[in-house]
Amino acid sequence: MKFTFSRDSLETVKADLIVVLCQQKVKDKDDKGIAILQKADGGIALDKHLGGLLSKIIIDETFRGETATSKLIYTSGKTTAKAVLLVGLGKTKEFTPEVLRKVGARITSVANEVKARSVAGIIQNESVKGFAPSTRIEALVEGFILGGYKFEQYKDKKDIEPATFKDAIFCQQGGRPARLLEEAINKGTTIANAIKFVRDMVNTPSKDMTPQILSAKAKEIATEAHLSCEVWDLKKIKEEKMGLFLAVARGSENEPKFVHISYKPKGKPRSKIALVGKGVTFDTGGYDLKPGRHMLAMKCDMAGAATCIALMKIIAELKPSVEVDAYMPMTDNMIDAKAEVPGNIVTARNGKTVEIISTDAEGRLILADALSVAAEKKPDYIIDMATLTGGVLYALGEIYTAVLGNDQKLVDKYIKAAKEESEPAWQLPLASEYKKGLTEGIADLKNLGKTRADTIVGGLFLQEFVGETKWMHLDIAESAWTEEERDYTPRGGTGTIVRTLTRLITSM
Ligand code: BES
Ligand code: MN
Ligand code: ZN
Repeated sequence: MKFTFSRDSLETVKADLIVVLCQQKVKDKDDKGIAILQKADGGIALDKHLGGLLSKIIIDETFRGETATSKLIYTSGKTTAKAVLLVGLGKTKEFTPEVLRKVGARITSVANEVKARSVAGIIQNESVKGFAPSTRIEALVEGFILGGYKFEQYKDKKDIEPATFKDAIFCQQGGRPARLLEEAINKGTTIANAIKFVRDMVNTPSKDMTPQILSAKAKEIATEAHLSCEVWDLKKIKEEKMGLFLAVARGSENEPKFVHISYKPKGKPRSKIALVGKGVTFDTGGYDLKPGRHMLAMKCDMAGAATCIALMKIIAELKPSVEVDAYMPMTDNMIDAKAEVPGNIVTARNGKTVEIISTDAEGRLILADALSVAAEKKPDYIIDMATLTGGVLYALGEIYTAVLGNDQKLVDKYIKAAKEESEPAWQLPLASEYKKGLTEGIADLKNLGKTRADTIVGGLFLQEFVGETKWMHLDIAESAWTEEERDYTPRGGTGTIVRTLTRLITSM
């Protein structure tokens, strides 16, 4: 998508579609409200030019201006564009940048529907509820791009409707387009493309997203972004004594890979951050086989690793003054004569022995060794991300990411950033009361606890491998995938937490 600035008015701008954003004005809390045109959004001037057509339609057809609703109005030659699209911003009191992501997605879908190539509109210069124009433009751009996301690689080409919307034009009254706005557009584009990348990786069937393919993709992206990237193969993983990782990989025909991408800023880094992402390219459960209905979506089990790769791509472009290393263990979890069975005991890289109670609790095994590798490099912070436990569904439902960690400041920072990015997150406790369940077996640790709080136990297990390092664990088992289409997210991989982690890392 191309973004340009124009000094034309909405009446004369050369575009296929004009967008006018309208607030929903309500008299009191029971009032359903009505859309209002505003001077700053160009609505009033355009309405005048059209002889009051817009305000008449708003009243006659009761267009309320609720968030991301729209009304298409053809202007029969009275504007350069064929039509005007009124889009609701909802109530001003409830406005956040998230509203603009939804609005952006709505505009993209209408523009593609009416086969508009170019869309023009005004982003008013003032702050809205404390949100600067650059913040708002960034969110709108994300909405434009994410709203157009479809995963169609496996469809017959002739059944695919190509997207027409290619040009977004911001009409600016007076003043030259500020560099800040251009930066916001670039940032929004970078982030949205990275989210699309995660969705693509997650949506790709495991047959086409093996550890080999995923690691090659990581290497390709790192190379493009001028980041250093190392890929360990089976032999190296054995030499490095990653016993828990190997235990999971044993049942596979596909060679495991361990990927390390690193970014170093110019000058002295403000801090050093390690990211660790679960890269299980398919999780059958192993001998603790998953029932079919639970297995079906398990190509999503590498979402943590895909998120790490996407973040490194963003970081390479935004160039924050922090050092960032990403570590990604990649394997599938399969059944085979060589696969581990429940009751087996394996030795971790850090020397601890682990009794495999369930071969389906494989994520914590591969992450444990990856966390050891990360911790040995003495970073200031470790952040791991993983589709670790289905139990997060019962704790927090379909859309929340569970956050656990040994450093409350880091957790608080994440939750604040998540709120600002509208990516739901909630903290769960690393309740030490449940730790006993992990240690009372015949090895140092069991990979399963006694309590029903699977998500907490997952965190407690991982905690054993980070030592004293400040660390946070993000369980994205539910939030990384959606069965239901949402505002700017179709069914499948969501790419969630990319925005929040970008905000967190660039502010550290
Ligand atoms: N990959 C799954 C977790 C998962 C479940 C991700 C649903 C996405 C959607 C993980 O490896 C797993 O199997 N976890 C077990 C943990 C249990 C054995 C403690 C689970 O959720 O049942
Ligand atoms: Mn599993
Ligand atoms: Zn898994």
